[in-house]
Amino acid sequence: MKIGICSDHAGFDYKSRLIPWLQGKGYQMVDFGTDSTVSMDYSDVAHPLAEAVESGKVDLGIALCGTGNGMAMTLNKHRGIRAGLAWGSEIGRLVKAHNNANVLVMPARFISYRLAQSIVKTWLETSFEGGRHQRRIEKMVCF
Ligand code: RB5
Repeated sequence: MKIGICSDHAGFDYKSRLIPWLQGKGYQMVDFGTDSTVSMDYSDVAHPLAEAVESGKVDLGIALCGTGNGMAMTLNKHRGIRAGLAWGSEIGRLVKAHNNANVLVMPARFISYRLAQSIVKTWLETSFEGGRHQRRIEKMVCF
């Protein structure tokens, strides 16, 4: 499975550590930046990641910024993206099981790296439940 990942400066440290950790688990990682802790605008990396998920260049995405909100808001402007913010493992499970999030967003300034690993692992290992949740995500239309 191919996973795209991006962060702004606030999420750079966790992104840098998640990439080799996930590669070690057999995932193919595509890094959309940023490349340092120098202040930058999250939208500049969120849009390319969203396009890669929408086009199928990558199967899933992971995005990190300080609060997670800038990334989630930007990613969710894309028609084919369901970006879900998770700050705990149970939310990481539910955002896949119920919302079928194709991009996982985490608030790097508010969770430990260990927790970020646990959220990612849970989200990747969880399957979408479908059924009533499929009907609900179909109603997430753009106006
Ligand atoms: C950067 O200071 C911060 O604004 C950003 O990481 C994120 O929290 C925005 O939503």
